[in-house]
Amino acid sequence: MFGMMRDEAAGSPAPRPRMSVIGTGYLGATHAAAMAELGFDVVGVDTDPAKVEALSAGRVPFYEPGLEELIARHLATGRLRFTTDLTEAVAVSDIHFVCVGTPQQTGSHAADLRFVESAVAGVARALSHDGVVVGKSTVPVGTAARLRELLGALAPEGVAAELIWNPEFLREGKAVEDTLHPDRVVIGGASPGAASAMREVYAAPIAEGTPFLTVGLETAELVKVSANAFLATKISFINAIAELCTAADADVSTLADAIGLDGRIGRRFLDAGLGFGGGCLPKDIRALMHRAGELGALEVVGLMQQVDEINMAQRQRVVEMALSACGGSVLNARIGVLGAAFKPLTDDVRDSPALNVAAALHLRGAQVTVFDPAAGETAHRTFPTLSFADGIRDALVDAHVVLLLTEWHEFLDADPVALGETVRTRTIIDARNKLDAARWSAAGWTVIGLGTGVTRPVAAPLGVPAVELLV
Ligand code: UGA
Repeated sequence: MFGMMRDEAAGSPAPRPRMSVIGTGYLGATHAAAMAELGFDVVGVDTDPAKVEALSAGRVPFYEPGLEELIARHLATGRLRFTTDLTEAVAVSDIHFVCVGTPQQTGSHAADLRFVESAVAGVARALSHDGVVVGKSTVPVGTAARLRELLGALAPEGVAAELIWNPEFLREGKAVEDTLHPDRVVIGGASPGAASAMREVYAAPIAEGTPFLTVGLETAELVKVSANAFLATKISFINAIAELCTAADADVSTLADAIGLDGRIGRRFLDAGLGFGGGCLPKDIRALMHRAGELGALEVVGLMQQVDEINMAQRQRVVEMALSACGGSVLNARIGVLGAAFKPLTDDVRDSPALNVAAALHLRGAQVTVFDPAAGETAHRTFPTLSFADGIRDALVDAHVVLLLTEWHEFLDADPVALGETVRTRTIIDARNKLDAARWSAAGWTVIGLGTGVTRPVAAPLGVPAVELLV
């Protein structure tokens, strides 16, 4: 089947496999560019002509550091191009990566598999020669086996096609780095020929020492989902401990530093605060709950439910902290919100805790003004009724309380003295526990963290009374 990749008998250098990448969102666009960077000829396919047009012109329709440069470089080398024509892309490729989205279904916790099914069916029908279909999307366990049957049923007679699974672990904001230098490569359900083709694809990371694991099809699907479930559990664990810290007058950040020094625990993903959001962790733990329920694995259902509940409660907690800081009601209070994206270095506002809190306060009658360095536009499209500012100062004018909801560097580096002159009351709720509270309190601010207590103003600057707030 993989004769087109190896021509050792003839003694000529083996031609490199050519690739199609179906779906050009965060995952697909990054994967396509990364494969071109690794030296392969790649064609990215999307059903959205506007996306294809933008990418073909070297414009990335979302914010992802480093991606635009990488795409521009390989449009120029000629190794990368984009099209809406799946049949043509499949005809010129040997390996077909499926990178389409698997969002949460409306009205259910289950994953919506329509896009992944239609991508595999489309590739199958378009196959003109042997090839490998490589699923990268995050799917409920058991999906790949069904897709394998679909591929077998739809592939033209005489064409040998194999479906394997190669889950992706990239983080938004670090997508390029994670794709070029992954922590591990997991290949599920591959025949020896397909496994060796994948070793060739990932030769560069493997040479850097990246572990290459060949596992069963179902294990590969579950590795991805379990990794996200574990990360989500870590975050909800520390947020539960943060509640305890508040009740017991302890400091959750110092506690996380201390327990994180234990190699078995590790410090990463132990930042207490507003909790997780985005297009991955929330929908992945819900899809896992749903699938585990179908399979009768009820402990997983219970655990993930608890993780989800703790996470969502953090948003409510911050809303209540804002209410309390404004004396019990936010009606007509001016609230300056720093951050709309679900995390820094992205303009993604899907299930963003920041936007959720901003909207909840707006619905309670507050005059909320939001600033985000990258996500202003996407946030405005999602919540057109919120006010958006062009800079930190604009968002904070006359604010009764300020909420730091996404820990962008420019917020952490902002000058608390200058900002103190803009607001009405120097109170900031640091919902990510990332501010230098001593620096802010020295400038007359009350800093309220989640599980880190309240840091009161050290001294009021001349002419401005220090404000003691009820918390
Ligand atoms: C996540 C995983 O980290 C990736 O490995 C995975 O490939 C990706 O989902 C996916 O399934 O595609 P991502 O959604 O980009 O990546 O975001 P993360 O960096 O994991 O952050 C998720 C959320 O957790 C953010 O809202 C962040 O603010 C929050 N978080 C993170 C915390 O609240 N505390 C922490 O200590 C760490």
